[in-house]
Amino acid sequence: MGNKQGFWEKPTQSYWIASTGDTNYPGVKENLKVDALIAGGGITGISCAYLLKKEGLKVALLEADGISKGATGHTTAKISSQHRLIYSRLIQQFGEERARQYAQANERAILEIKNIVRENNIDCDLMDRPAFVYTEKEENIQRIEEEAGAASDMGIKASFTEETGLPFPVKAALRFDGQAQFHPRKYLLALIEIIAGEGSHVFEDSKVVQVKEGPPYRVLTAEGVEITADHLIIATHYPLTGRVLPYVVRLYADRSYIIAVKAKKPLPPGMYLRAEYPGRSLRSQPFEGGELILLGGENHKTGQEVSALERYQNLVSFAEENFQVEEVPYRWSTQDYRTMDGVPFIGHYSSATPQKYVATGFGKWGMTNGTAAGLIIRDLIVKGKSPWQEVYDPMRKTFRQSIKRFFIENLNVASHFVKGKISRGEKELELEKGQGKVLNIEGKRKGAYRDEDGKLYLVDTTCTHLGCELNWNSAEKSWDCPCHGARFTYKGEVIEGPVMKPLRVKMKKNPQ
Ligand SMILES: Cc1cc2nc3c(=O)[nH]c(=O)nc-3n(C[C@H](O)[C@H](O)[C@H](O)COP(=O)(O)OP(=O)(O)OC[C@H]3O[C@@H](n4cnc5c(N)ncnc54)[C@H](O)[C@@H]3O)c2cc1C
Ligand code: FES
Repeated sequence: MGNKQGFWEKPTQSYWIASTGDTNYPGVKENLKVDALIAGGGITGISCAYLLKKEGLKVALLEADGISKGATGHTTAKISSQHRLIYSRLIQQFGEERARQYAQANERAILEIKNIVRENNIDCDLMDRPAFVYTEKEENIQRIEEEAGAASDMGIKASFTEETGLPFPVKAALRFDGQAQFHPRKYLLALIEIIAGEGSHVFEDSKVVQVKEGPPYRVLTAEGVEITADHLIIATHYPLTGRVLPYVVRLYADRSYIIAVKAKKPLPPGMYLRAEYPGRSLRSQPFEGGELILLGGENHKTGQEVSALERYQNLVSFAEENFQVEEVPYRWSTQDYRTMDGVPFIGHYSSATPQKYVATGFGKWGMTNGTAAGLIIRDLIVKGKSPWQEVYDPMRKTFRQSIKRFFIENLNVASHFVKGKISRGEKELELEKGQGKVLNIEGKRKGAYRDEDGKLYLVDTTCTHLGCELNWNSAEKSWDCPCHGARFTYKGEVIEGPVMKPLRVKMKKNPQ
């Protein structure tokens, strides 16, 4: 790619956000009482709010920032029940009954999105597409075969194939039919318009900072407004009351990178995922009379020191090898939370908090799982139960099976905690413009960033959540936490994650 279109100088920007308008919902100004308060305006919160309003509840959706600008505004937006090779593992780990619940919830979510689009006549580039997980390795063919059998047993239209249409050789692939893709922000901006009105509300720039337990729940915003609700739904990606132990030790954040490519060769009409690491995720998107190929991959745990530019470069190289690239107009990255056993937490927040619900840990499959969360939480509120509640139960006790993974992940987190604390950092203050790094200034670890005007920003790199040490993210110019995925701007302001407090600023300006 070289630098022919000034590619590397362009700021990262999600195509979904760039191609849709900004929303302009008010901030919440006055105390209010509603039947259900939903915190978070991504696909999960919006699906919950839409479905509950349809049942006649008066809802209020509170979004800290702008609608659908979080993970949902940065996704790949495949609508699929094909979550890599999940079904063989689910059957082994949870048993057939619960594996079937997972399959049914996700298949139902695909239909639900299609129904909502049809009923409301939403123009969101929704297209039916088969989904494939392909392998380039002989030794994985059997796993693909077994997964096709397991998924078929769960009632999914799944098959084993060697035909993918991809322009490079694959050994075998798992094919699911009846899957789809869409423009997530076009879909959600249409839904949000239906939510506001008739006693229901949508608020932006309205961050929930405190929850007084209920029911009824009393929720305080950063501006000091109080909203009372019989039902409270936490759809803030990471559960907002992030110091609660069961969630702190069971969720971790994983980042991936996406480039949007204009190419001479089109992608065959499917959605693709490589079975092996490094992952490669592919789908197309209508664009200016042609198409963009969305290529994602290069995942790693948030806050680990990696060269993000190298990650993008790897994706560009893959695209150039396979698709005759003309231009890469967009690139962006984002993160999603994973649970230790790989199944999201959707349902009652805890046994001590009736009528409080949570949905998180979608493991990069939140289009269907987030929609399924809407269906499950609606059913729990309206009918008292959901046919899929057991597999997603946030209070489930499946640690024995996943205990090894639990320790691996947390040892990794713990090592970041310790390593960060004792790191000597860099000594010199020779930062280039646009560069950020950890410095050792007078024996103390500080995060430094020099902006394009030469202004130096110094922050305390200790995360304000639970004290892990942050690392520099060169692609997004942010300070990222390896423990639970909190992210801060170079000025120390909170971007996302389970934190409320900004970083301590060490020194605002130093023109050296
Ligand atoms: C690279 C990548 C690719 C992916 N591709 C796919 C895919 O192809 N298919 C798929 O199914 N899934 C995919 N996913 C996963 C999917 O994008 C996410 O699971 C999903 O978007 C999460 O939605 P959400 O509504 O839970 O969170 P978000 O979209 O992050 O929404 C949460 C909202 O809560 C707000 N918020 C946070 N704190 C507060 C607070 N205190 N008060 C009020 N509001 C608050 C945030 O501002 C945010 O807008 C992908 C994920 C990644 C990382
Ligand atoms: S996000 Fe938990 S310690 Fe930083």
